[in-house]
Amino acid sequence: MSRFKFFVLSFLSAGCCLNAQSTVWLDQLDLSVATQGNGKPGVNTSVDGKPLMVAGEVFKRGFGTHAESSLLIKLNGKATKFSALVGLDDEMKGHDPAVEFEIYGDNKKLWSSGVMHLGDKAKPVSVSLKGIKQLELVVADGGNGPYYDHADWVNARFETAGVSTLETFNPIASEPYILTPKPAATPKINSATVYGVRPGSPFLFRIAATGDRPMTFAAKNLPEGLKIDPQTGIITGKIAQKETYEVELMAKNAKGSASKKLKIESADRIALTPTMGWNSWNCFGHEVSADKVKRAADALVKSGLVNHGWNYINIDDSWQYNRNGKDPSFNGQFRDKDGYILTNSKFPDMKNLGDYIHGNGLKMGIYSSPGPWTCGGCAGSYGYEKQDAESYAQWGVDYLKYDWCSYGGVIDGLPDHDPNKVPSLAFNGGSDLDKGVKPFKLMGNLLRQQPRDIVYNLCQYGMGDVWKWGDEADAQSWRTTNDITDTWASVKNIALAQDKAAPYAKPGNWNDPDMLVVGVVGWGNPHQSKLKPDEQYLHISLWSIFSAPLLIGCDLEKMDDFTLNLLTNDEVIAVNQDALGKQGVCLNTLGELKIYVKDLEDGGKAMAFANFGREKVKLAYKDFKKLGISGNQTVRDLWRQKDIAKINTGMGSLALDIPAHGVAYYKFISNQ
Ligand code: GAL
Repeated sequence: MSRFKFFVLSFLSAGCCLNAQSTVWLDQLDLSVATQGNGKPGVNTSVDGKPLMVAGEVFKRGFGTHAESSLLIKLNGKATKFSALVGLDDEMKGHDPAVEFEIYGDNKKLWSSGVMHLGDKAKPVSVSLKGIKQLELVVADGGNGPYYDHADWVNARFETAGVSTLETFNPIASEPYILTPKPAATPKINSATVYGVRPGSPFLFRIAATGDRPMTFAAKNLPEGLKIDPQTGIITGKIAQKETYEVELMAKNAKGSASKKLKIESADRIALTPTMGWNSWNCFGHEVSADKVKRAADALVKSGLVNHGWNYINIDDSWQYNRNGKDPSFNGQFRDKDGYILTNSKFPDMKNLGDYIHGNGLKMGIYSSPGPWTCGGCAGSYGYEKQDAESYAQWGVDYLKYDWCSYGGVIDGLPDHDPNKVPSLAFNGGSDLDKGVKPFKLMGNLLRQQPRDIVYNLCQYGMGDVWKWGDEADAQSWRTTNDITDTWASVKNIALAQDKAAPYAKPGNWNDPDMLVVGVVGWGNPHQSKLKPDEQYLHISLWSIFSAPLLIGCDLEKMDDFTLNLLTNDEVIAVNQDALGKQGVCLNTLGELKIYVKDLEDGGKAMAFANFGREKVKLAYKDFKKLGISGNQTVRDLWRQKDIAKINTGMGSLALDIPAHGVAYYKFISNQ
């Protein structure tokens, strides 16, 4: 080596002048691109916007986040060291969060904190980053669910080879794109092909049909006791007999006409296809009112959602009086002298609200808890179940969501209970199970005694494998998980936990992975769903293939074209509403790609190729045997509503190109 070359190399490797060492603080980077389980990334604050505090010590600098959290940083070899202190933020005192901090360099784990609990002293970390191109800071759940997991990276900084900043990024695409074609001008009937009603119960069915208005409707072979309004397509009346009827629905406008068969089963079972509608909780939280509910009903009609089969308008928590309402409209006497529940002043006349909703051919849902208090601290049904069931029937309620909150305290014999208390009961089996099932059977039985059909939804987060006994409690659907939020971690974790309950789904019995988190949501604090467009396609596709009740959680007056496209694809909806009532399950896993398959009544199979990974999946898929198909198949893209391939499954392959966190949602139709 020449003396000159030697001089230059030593000069550079010494990091002289051109390459001076410098410190870049994590809080100086753009943290807004982080994905996390809840809330917004805190820059020098906790996730709740408070000073960072771990085990009593306050820190000025750092990143406050919430499990499950991921922040990606491009280093390209420009950083040499990362150091920080990590721990759970004290703001969640009184709860029992647990997390694990992890650091990945080029997808290899460089360090892990081990499981940490609230009150643990901040743990120091220092890792060498030499040669690393991409760093990921992760906060994983510590094994007890991602609840209250407020986690802090404090005094976090990089030593760099002279650069003064580093670039954070999020690999998931964020541009919305519309796949669903607009409905045609000619009439098309989109209602499910089967509908259950009990003999003697009021019948209410609005034909869902797209196409130009004005449109007129008719129905052939309607059972005795039913009549159709030709202008609205709303069928009302009562059927006395226990019998099955084959009806033909018809719709006509200036451009043409359409017809579709509807099987009406007048028998014991109701909710023969999963419930479709709207619920107030994910958008309005405790701020719900009769006026907002009426406006939601109007918006369901005006937006055209009703023409695709959406028809329930469900009021969640906070129509009752509250035990500690700061809002004066929540302060009042819970019940009258005979124990009948009184509605708070935001709901002046529940019967009138029911009539309004029914007048549009829609159904009304309501919410309560078997404990003395609902989750939000409103009056629950405990001790007054009979009166409540009677009130619901009198108001015209068609659906009850019956929550768990505060019933744990009843079992524990507590005189009064903290409405936010996590149930103390291990509700798993044996006598505990009987105690936990009892209140749900009690209400189920009372609902059956009412002179109308009330679809019964259990909301106890899947405890005691509710899918195994929900039917015995006379319920038609049951939540399988804790509450959903509009984050990727929440949707992913819920989706991946559904298969175990799948064998129990059938017409009249549905597993409920919680409501939809697309559009403007926010539990009283409205914002656009934080899910990326591809994540939203995956969310809706999976809820469709899971045969899940589809309850829109967004503000219906604020839907943009992208949200409407997600909620009005009749082929996606038809899979969910398929009369066979099977729940799709994962039949093949290839790395982060999961392939869910659902058998359909017409012999076809719906398939969701769901990419849970951060890299796009591009491959030629051949393993059709695993998916239960053979021979020649036509592949139809459900989101685009068009056939995309004909394959011979023995020899051919299917080209998959699925975005990160995205989905390809297809129907396979056998050509034999
Ligand atoms: C939760 C339930 C939510 C919502 C809330 C109302 O327990 O899972 O969906 O109903 O209560 O307080």
